[in-house]
Amino acid sequence: MTKQHESDVLIIGAGAAGLSLALRLAPRLRIAILAKATLLESNTRYAQGGVSVVMDENDSIASHVADTLEAGAGLCDEETVHFVVSHGPECIRDLIQQGVDFTRDKDSDGESRYHLTREGGHSHRRVIHAADATGLEIQSSLLAQVKAHANITLHESHLMLDLIHNKDQGCLGAYVFERTKKEVICFRARTTVLATGGAGKVYLYTSNPDVATGDGIAMAWRAGCRVANMEFIQFHPTCLYSPGADSFLITEAVRGEGGRLLLPNGERFMERFDPRGELAPRDIVARAMDHEMKRLGAECIYLDLSHKPAEFIRAHFPTVYARCQKLGIDMCMEPVPVVPAAHYTCGGVMTDHNGCTDLPGLYAIGEVAFTGLHGANRMASNSLLECLVLARSAAAHIAGNIANRPLPPALPDWDESRVTDSDEEVVVSHNWDELRRFMWDYVGIVRTTKRLQRAKRRVDLLLYEIREYYTHFRVSNDLIELRNLAMVADLIIRSALSRHESRGLHYTLDYPKVDETHPPVNTILKP
Ligand code: FAD
Ligand code: SIN
Repeated sequence: MTKQHESDVLIIGAGAAGLSLALRLAPRLRIAILAKATLLESNTRYAQGGVSVVMDENDSIASHVADTLEAGAGLCDEETVHFVVSHGPECIRDLIQQGVDFTRDKDSDGESRYHLTREGGHSHRRVIHAADATGLEIQSSLLAQVKAHANITLHESHLMLDLIHNKDQGCLGAYVFERTKKEVICFRARTTVLATGGAGKVYLYTSNPDVATGDGIAMAWRAGCRVANMEFIQFHPTCLYSPGADSFLITEAVRGEGGRLLLPNGERFMERFDPRGELAPRDIVARAMDHEMKRLGAECIYLDLSHKPAEFIRAHFPTVYARCQKLGIDMCMEPVPVVPAAHYTCGGVMTDHNGCTDLPGLYAIGEVAFTGLHGANRMASNSLLECLVLARSAAAHIAGNIANRPLPPALPDWDESRVTDSDEEVVVSHNWDELRRFMWDYVGIVRTTKRLQRAKRRVDLLLYEIREYYTHFRVSNDLIELRNLAMVADLIIRSALSRHESRGLHYTLDYPKVDETHPPVNTILKP
């Protein structure tokens, strides 16, 4: 038997959700944190705009709740929204105490205070930020503290492959693929937490980094957990259009600070679609851009902030400015070419307010989870907020219940006795490309039943091929991720096919209106 790692709490994921949970538990419990690539690589690391939170005396919890409900198009769970929004301020105070350096400026009396920016759907300035690199500031501060804790061990390049569970004890830990040694090892734990982030990589064009392959959703599904609202994939309107370069987001705060969307001929168009113009919720802006690009045969739309002083642009958007500059675009002088891209997975593993899933001993927090906060469309900057608040409540629940969960005894090793090395890796890379392309073409911003059915036939075939491949060949990084991506794609398509209306982020030409004849319902899939 190979050596097995053991801990009280096994946290899969080192983004905002996983790290803040670890810090809340560490003094009392032994924690292991896994990250499948480097410790910093995550959606959190690339978050730009900030965290939405009520901090201004003219703002209120009621207003933040109302804006979130409005963006969510009738599908938010009001109690969850209130829970998350009202715990926001204390979580931000904790981050500040932990050393997170949010941007400050001076008010009219010369007093220094935190700068709050604006984003789509928010009726107040309420997004606290660290210039335009908020995620990196939060993640690196949390990581520095995690590294200083004797009770926490960090394991990078460790790709969780599947949960280990049984009927009597629930979740017992996970099998994990050690990417450098290319071997599967066992992590057993009294409690396991999925903090694995979203699934943007299921689409050809995405703002998400490579790690966002929906692993946690697929693994929880395979372990018998329900998932909900997978049809609601958010497309961010403004990703930098630069064929051949790595994807890069242009933060919504650029529009919040007065950025204008322009057609190739320089005309503004958003007011034709929504009176809120560029600051309408993301689903409306992304659809309007998609419509105009298709109508004109244009490759991109333009985002212009050049009417603002250059020093303002460089101070507020140093990261965006530098990236554009590298590509020969001076955003102080000219508009930036942008296109919509897959950005956020609103659905996920069903949990309650403590992050508890259907499987005893298994929690899910952050983007991997479905709590009911986002409904049919997440409001900008509500995601980091959800990571922080749910990490806090999950920590309290884990600490209060772990005494009832003994450490599992030694578990069986991963069985490789019936598999051989693959002789056709090309099958895996081909299927990766095919999957992401048909998801973009058939299950994108504007859908039809025919396109969804076409996608369903293709994903069924891929799932069959992947199953065959998986049973015969030794696992590899790409195979594990492809298997998860295909499973998540299937959940998205099935959810989209079952919604016979257009609501929030799900828009289909066959049912172009909200179904007013029935009360709004979540799409809940059971394994
Ligand atoms: P992540 O930060 O994505 O972390 C996931 C972790 O899980 C990683 O460590 C990864 O290695 C690990 N992992 C995944 N699968 C496995 C596996 N199988 N085995 C082991 N480890 C695994 N939201 C906001 O609120 N405000 C913003 O300004 C904002 N800007 C954004 C900008 C960009 C470009 C992007 C992509 C997203 C943005 N979002 C923003 C969304 C927000 O960043 C994410 O929803 C949030 O950071 C998710 O945090 P998380 O901890 O749940 O997951
Ligand atoms: C952005 O900065 O535009 C991203 C904000 C978010 O996704 O919440």
